[in-house]
Amino acid sequence: MNNKLSSKISGIATYLPEKILTNDDLSKMVDTNNEWIVSRTGIEKRHIADDNEYTYDLAVKSAVKTLQQENLKATDIDCIIVSTTTPADKCPSTAVKVQSKIGAKNAFAFDIQAACSGFIYGLSIADSFIKSGQAKRVLLIGAETMSKVTDWTDRSTCVLFGDGAGSCILSKATDECHKVIAIKLYSDGDRYDQIVIHNSEKNNCRGHMTMNGSEVFKSAIRCMGEAVNDILNENDMTIDDVDWIIPHQANARIIKSLCEQNDYPIEKSIISLQNHANTSSATIPMAIDYGIKSGRIKSGNILLLTAMGAGLTWGSAIVKL
Ligand code: UT7
Repeated sequence: MNNKLSSKISGIATYLPEKILTNDDLSKMVDTNNEWIVSRTGIEKRHIADDNEYTYDLAVKSAVKTLQQENLKATDIDCIIVSTTTPADKCPSTAVKVQSKIGAKNAFAFDIQAACSGFIYGLSIADSFIKSGQAKRVLLIGAETMSKVTDWTDRSTCVLFGDGAGSCILSKATDECHKVIAIKLYSDGDRYDQIVIHNSEKNNCRGHMTMNGSEVFKSAIRCMGEAVNDILNENDMTIDDVDWIIPHQANARIIKSLCEQNDYPIEKSIISLQNHANTSSATIPMAIDYGIKSGRIKSGNILLLTAMGAGLTWGSAIVKL
């Protein structure tokens, strides 16, 4: 095993279902309004999967874009990792369905579940596979149909979430300009009850979510601040060494408070949640994709990713894109 090996990320792509649910649409369903949602969260709209459109469908659509972008065939992939909290079935995994639908015959495939931190957890596993030589090209996907576990009568949660997928390839880094520099993961099971997707049927969905919003809000700022400060310190870096902060996209006020409380320049943070709401493990690739398409994130930039979600789970990563 060569310990000097590094992995790199490429081919970031995303998919959002066609149907859009605006804040005004929601105001016809529950006692809320556009002004409250925008001022308290920054969210303007979310995309919702059709009744017969599942997490694996979204994952496949994003994965196909990643493969096209990288000029790869599905058979070039030797591992597929899907991070999801909202699989269509408990078993088999979303990842094996993706494998079958794209024809990745040479891959092994499995799911992971770390809620909104799932993309960073998946990144860590993929990075380890590349470094150990266990895989050469990992297709990493964060995909969710949060709408199917949303209680559409609960205004305190139903305005916050959306559906979508984001994906990328992890492969061996061939130079210093494009590589995963560091990753840190955390969890605290004592706070498992702050966000729960219950395993029961309600409102015609596969389960329903309950959340202690104000506690999660405070935890998100504290946990992501810890994850960012730890990873910078451990790598002898400061926020000045970072081009862009890519936080989990749950609430614009969380991102602003995270920056204010830790003296990170808010201009360095990418906020894309206005377009897609909280898509759980898909928000990090969505924010990177938005940053690239809006001309801010450039090849070779240093990105500091951080996320926090149910578990609680949280983490951070420093990546040279
Ligand atoms: O990825 C991790 C998962 N989740 C998160 O990160 C979410 C974290 N939490 C949050 O983003 C915020 O706590 C919320 C957006 C959920 C709530 O914002 P808040 O500023 O903490 O509001 P609040 O819960 O303190 O509620 C303020 C008021 C309440 O009314 P009263 O008791 O003051 O009369 C709520 O009933 O706002 C009311 N409210 C709403 N009003 C209109 C709650 N939801 C809504 C709504 N529309 N959708």
